[in-house]
Amino acid sequence: MQTQVIDARGNPEAGTQLGGRLIKEGGLVAFPTETVYGLGANGMDAEAVQGIFAAKGRPSDNPLILHVCRKNDVHKLWDTIPEKAQRLMDAFWPGPLTLVYTRTDAVPDIVTAGLSTVAVRMPDNKTARALIKAAGVPIAAPSANASGRPSPTTAAHVLEDMAGRIPLVIDGGPCKFGVESTVVAVGAEPMILRPGAVTQSMLEAVIGPVRLHKSLLQPLGEGEQTASPGMRYKHYAPDAQVIVVTGTLSNMARRISELYDTYTNAHKKCMILATRQTQHFYREKEYAIIGDRERPQTLCASLFSALRDRGAQADVLLAEGVPAEEAGLAFMNRLLRAAGFCCEDADKLSD
Ligand code: TXA
Ligand code: MG
Repeated sequence: MQTQVIDARGNPEAGTQLGGRLIKEGGLVAFPTETVYGLGANGMDAEAVQGIFAAKGRPSDNPLILHVCRKNDVHKLWDTIPEKAQRLMDAFWPGPLTLVYTRTDAVPDIVTAGLSTVAVRMPDNKTARALIKAAGVPIAAPSANASGRPSPTTAAHVLEDMAGRIPLVIDGGPCKFGVESTVVAVGAEPMILRPGAVTQSMLEAVIGPVRLHKSLLQPLGEGEQTASPGMRYKHYAPDAQVIVVTGTLSNMARRISELYDTYTNAHKKCMILATRQTQHFYREKEYAIIGDRERPQTLCASLFSALRDRGAQADVLLAEGVPAEEAGLAFMNRLLRAAGFCCEDADKLSD
């Protein structure tokens, strides 16, 4: 199959009529959102949704998010709208927040992997919303990467994984946030299942206490249940091995430099993922500045492209940790998964 790319960077509606028609006919379309690129199909059509799992190689027990272009569209997807959900929708939609609540019978089982709940979000990206409008149905869309790979934040990343497998990619340029939406279960006790740009404190300012799922920063134990099935799988893995080092800046940089020398002496090509504040520690070494530690959202915005692009050029990526709070929590959640939870605390090593 030839994959057509339509450039929507100057015109957010470009490609959305063709894309809407392809989706109505049961096809797949990759499209930009403000978080990452999505791989969309008609969310009301089980056979079309099956095509998403096939194109990605995604395990069938990992449920999908339905994307809507109007808040009102949740009425046919959830059995009721709890008050806290309504308040979150009013505060953060359109935007990078996915809400999980009890589903109706209109939602095909394959979308929810048989769960009694369905995840819904309204993206804050004009092309995404124009595509959903043109399709006339909620669009089921996971991130548009092959299962297990870093999520795509440019059309070029989508093509790396999906060229020849889908008929259309709409290119909306680089994604603004660069990590996927915050996923919140809105039952009696709201809980963050996946951290994102909408942070715990932003949510709590609107609905009061919100818990963090315990698996956000650690692997699940054998046989342990996760509320968000996607958290179970190996994730975001680039071509290179990733090692995360945390600690005070000087301890962290010293340990990263040590690891760099060890691996380089063993003829492994190393690349350090540094920040503006730490680049001076690595002068003689190969490093890439991925953002500003004081503004972890800048680290989120470039993490996946760094994992893909730098990971293709190196054997080992040495990455710096940041405090796992606010936007830093989303960054560490993704980075630790990309590293298979291989993480060293440099402060403990230097005791
Ligand atoms: O930003 C995003 O959310 C992107 C863009 C394309 O919208 N989409 C995305 O989809 O990240 P995906 O499939 O890669 O991740 C969806 C996450 C998974 O961790 C999945 O397990 C969880 O949401 N999820 C979906 N439905 C769920 C449900 N009913 N209950 C709990 N978790 C659910
Ligand atoms: Mg994904």
